[in-house]
Amino acid sequence: MLFNGDVYILEKDFEKYLNELKKRAEKMLMSFMPEAEGFQKTLIEAMNYSLLAGGKRIRPVLMLETWKIFNGQDENLIAPFVAAIEMLHTFSLVHDDLPAMDNDLYRRGRKTTHAVYGAGMATLAGDGLLNLAFETALQASGKNHDDKVIEALKILALKAGIYGMAGGQCADIESENLSSVSDELIDFVNEHKTACMIESSLMIGGILAGANKNDIAKLETAGSYLGIAFQIRDDILNKTGSEKELGKPVGSDENKGKNNYVHVHGLEDAQKKVLELSQKAIEIFNELYQNHGIEYAFLAELTRIMTKRNK
Ligand code: IPE
Ligand code: IPE
Ligand code: MG
Ligand code: MG
Repeated sequence: MLFNGDVYILEKDFEKYLNELKKRAEKMLMSFMPEAEGFQKTLIEAMNYSLLAGGKRIRPVLMLETWKIFNGQDENLIAPFVAAIEMLHTFSLVHDDLPAMDNDLYRRGRKTTHAVYGAGMATLAGDGLLNLAFETALQASGKNHDDKVIEALKILALKAGIYGMAGGQCADIESENLSSVSDELIDFVNEHKTACMIESSLMIGGILAGANKNDIAKLETAGSYLGIAFQIRDDILNKTGSEKELGKPVGSDENKGKNNYVHVHGLEDAQKKVLELSQKAIEIFNELYQNHGIEYAFLAELTRIMTKRNK
């Protein structure tokens, strides 16, 4: 099997391996999804609607692969966190699309949650997903690894909160329609609203597999580079991409007066920045794989492919 053993995969198997990880992650996610029943049925339906809408599942894939690099063994430990990171990410998207935030009607190739269930229910679906993420991650506890679980929970919480994603969303909203913004503010937005959750995906994979502090710090740095590059590429696609391929609106950042990297520096410099940051992440990933005697650095290749992604 590609995933479990110490089989070194070849470059041509990249897509196959990526799909394998994605499928594995989705299976884990499905196993923690709640049944839509009771008086809260509509809320649970709205949560499942957004979770099942699909998506690239990049964060779970990053988490699973990092866990594998560091030779993680117990699937009961990683599975709840794999599901939790996608629940948290989906919560951030449901709220990000709300009329009071980005006011978008299209996501992952479908109508957004609020467009189907109304703003009230979509707000609750976000709340539900945020909480469910922690309810789910906590299921990893009690299995003789509670020190690792607590460390992973700390990162999961920190990187999604005011010092992470939510903090970045605050700065994102406040930077709309300003006559000028500093690079420092743009960096803050990208680092916090997006890179923090990429960092936590990598770090948690490492923590649960027993990686040392030094390696966890490297994962955080690589996640920061990859995450900022990921967001700038997202901003490029908002200008140049196809709605059909992206499954979300194009041109909306400009309409909303988003002062992102592309708006301030232009498309060409933005893509240069994507490549420059990605290269830094790739160097760290290559080093980690080498140190573990793994021939094919999947995360380095994934990072390289992300620089030219169209969805
Ligand atoms: C979208 O994230 C929001 C950003 C941080 C740019 P993804 O591009 O990972 O969205 P899905 O999960 O594939 O829909
Ligand atoms: C997404 O930011 C970041 C979060 C949802 C936390 P954007 O608003 O730029 O992403 P899209 O374009 O809606 O996916
Ligand atoms: Mg937004
Ligand atoms: Mg948005």
